[in-house]
Amino acid sequence: MPKAHIETFGCQMNKLDSELVRASLVSAGFEFVNRIEEADLILFVTCSVRDHAETRALSHIGNLRAFCRKRPDVIVGVMGCMAQRMGAELTERFPHVRIVCGTRAFPLIAGIVAEATRTGGPVIRLDEEFPENGPDREPSQRPSRHSAYVCAMRGCDNWCAYCVVPSLRGPQVSRQPREVIREIEALVADGAVEITLLGQNIDSYGRDLPGDYSLADLLEDVNAIPGLLRLRFITSHPKDLGPRIPQAIARLDKVCEHLHMPPQSGSDRILKLMNRGYTREYYLELVGRLRDAVPDIALAGDFIVGFPGESNEDFEQSMSLLREVRFQQCFLFKYSTRPGTRAEKMPDQLPEDVIVERHQRLLKEQERIALENHKAMIGREVEVLAEGPTRKKPEMLTGRTRRNEIVIFQGEAGLEGKLVSVRIEETTPVAIYGKLTNTSPV
Ligand code: 5AD
Ligand code: SF4
Repeated sequence: MPKAHIETFGCQMNKLDSELVRASLVSAGFEFVNRIEEADLILFVTCSVRDHAETRALSHIGNLRAFCRKRPDVIVGVMGCMAQRMGAELTERFPHVRIVCGTRAFPLIAGIVAEATRTGGPVIRLDEEFPENGPDREPSQRPSRHSAYVCAMRGCDNWCAYCVVPSLRGPQVSRQPREVIREIEALVADGAVEITLLGQNIDSYGRDLPGDYSLADLLEDVNAIPGLLRLRFITSHPKDLGPRIPQAIARLDKVCEHLHMPPQSGSDRILKLMNRGYTREYYLELVGRLRDAVPDIALAGDFIVGFPGESNEDFEQSMSLLREVRFQQCFLFKYSTRPGTRAEKMPDQLPEDVIVERHQRLLKEQERIALENHKAMIGREVEVLAEGPTRKKPEMLTGRTRRNEIVIFQGEAGLEGKLVSVRIEETTPVAIYGKLTNTSPV
């Protein structure tokens, strides 16, 4: 049996895409191995959102040069956003790369691998050849039995000035509601209890479909699937989060009290330059509405530090927004210039040392807030979905609360995939420890 290995970089959509590729290749007779040296087929599912993600992938790919010289039969393929962005440049720079394939060609990977094996390659399949997104994935190939990602929509029409995604993943395409629901029913029948709906801009789900079916309707329909315990959706754009969503989170019992809704900046001037389509005031008002409807909601955010033209004052506005909202979790990114974006051509690109210094300050502040948030949980009893043993101590289990906090507690392996009650006893900025109080939910 030929052996394959996949390395995945970037977002949840990439993780899901890797599962799709894995499913196709398993059907085509491949066996997957963890060690790259044992593989006959090595695939990289890549990300282009920041330069750093590309540099990491490129260095991994470059490192395989000597290995491929010794093993000329090995096929190396680069897939996903960076493959789409760089195209044939990849095979010119790295002659050992024999497949380059954009995200929309993923469902055809088995045929592409067969062609590269037959001809020696390179086989280059970019998204321009494929106007539509691919078919369903196979539910049997997910890494976790009880949790699964389900794609609701792909692509993005927002064109934020810093972002390379719309040019690489193309315009928004929503899947038909009945297709999404059918896939979730199959996953639940196969043991999944937690579903996360994925979309680059999930709140505009359905806008490209006929009729007025929206994310709120999809949440309602998925919530009604028997056997499902938890439902999440990411990522939310403040401008597109519809008026029915706060109520839907409050009313639908399976929809978890957690929302990833990146502000990106706290300064109106920068938000405008970023083309985000909302103001700081609007963002805060939305947070207020969400907290009125769902008092215990956990908000996660992304900020970009050092966007072109960001003054000290603009940065302080981001700092104050971060303090005001008190995010449960924040992903803080140093601005990275992406080729072909509007921000690339903007004046007043900031020097790296200024960006690094501001980024450090924001990180420190978020760490302080996270620690305070975690401390406030001590003594509380929370519902946790047990996931599996921790890597270092197999007698300890990890799991997530409905608010998406990761909790570590002592428990037997049989609890995996079950909702249990845990009393929080100790916290650090990165981890929360608790004691199992009941093997059923709070
Ligand atoms: N530089 C830094 N961060 C970026 N992101 C998107 N594009 C860039 C960029 N050019 C961040 C945004 C987005 C997250 C997925 O990545 O915060 O929400
Ligand atoms: Fe990029 Fe903005 Fe679309 Fe998110 S909403 S994928 S940041 S363009």
